Amino acid sequence: MNRNHVVNTNEFSFWYGNFQALNKLTFNISSYKITALIGPSGCGKSTFLKCLNRMNERGGEVSHEGSIQVFGEDIYHPIVALPELRKQVGMVFQKPNPLPLSIYDNLVFGAKTHIKNVKSSELDHMVESSLKRVGMWEDLKNQLHRSALSLSLEKQQRLCIARLLPLKPKLLLLDEPCSALDPAGIEAIEILIKDLKKDYSIIIVTHSMNQAKRVSDETIFMYMGEVVEMGQTEELFTSPKQQKTAAYIDGRFG
Ligand SMILES: Nc1ncnc2c1ncn2[C@@H]1O[C@H](COP(=O)(O)OP(=O)(O)OP(=O)(O)O)[C@@H](O)[C@H]1O
Ligand SMILES: [Mg+2]
Repeated sequence: MNRNHVVNTNEFSFWYGNFQALNKLTFNISSYKITALIGPSGCGKSTFLKCLNRMNERGGEVSHEGSIQVFGEDIYHPIVALPELRKQVGMVFQKPNPLPLSIYDNLVFGAKTHIKNVKSSELDHMVESSLKRVGMWEDLKNQLHRSALSLSLEKQQRLCIARLLPLKPKLLLLDEPCSALDPAGIEAIEILIKDLKKDYSIIIVTHSMNQAKRVSDETIFMYMGEVVEMGQTEELFTSPKQQKTAAYIDGRFG
């Protein structure tokens, strides 16, 4: 296993029933970097993210071939415990989805579910440290029992990131995390994401080429379930090797 890689996929294919959504993905994703996943609607970006914590298996019938390793562990091995995997690989969605509970209860929900006999002093500590990590402690420390749903969308999205942190994830998956936000909210979340890569490996799906350029170190361009091209972000956007990549980043389709 190579510590420089958070994800290694090897000929990984994935089907929803008879429909093949991912075709023979083979690539590595660097650890402690931000990797952008781009490509037209329906190309399999969300599907790939959901394969990384096996969330796809919650719905109908699915199957796969090939393998995915996260920090060297084969996540499709039969002994893999799904709750443990989902702690290690946290996900944030397009629309902020805090639970209809207080800010405090949102932040401790995962820990209460996943960790046995956790003390209330530990929960308090988790709340403080995770809110500090996303830059909201000073703002919210006197309002922890306020409903999370009363926060602005940007703060709800920060909270959705913060609530993953007590579970000590290795990898954060962000599926179009800014698409519900205004420009100020987008900027704030991008600053946060860049700061988080000191401690976490991050994959971000985005439809915005500019966002991919602003935040990511590496970019993967997918088309119809396949990886067309992957590289350093600057290189991929300035001198794409494939015609299809050039056409997509120029806005000629998608
Ligand atoms: N639960 C499902 N059952 C069957 N097919 C699905 C399911 N989820 C997604 N698909 C199909 O798999 C393909 C990839 O979908 P996916 O949501 O991964 O695309 P995406 O790249 O995230 O698109 P978008 O940019 O619109 O979010 C699409 O053809 C989609 O219709
Ligand atoms: Mg998607």
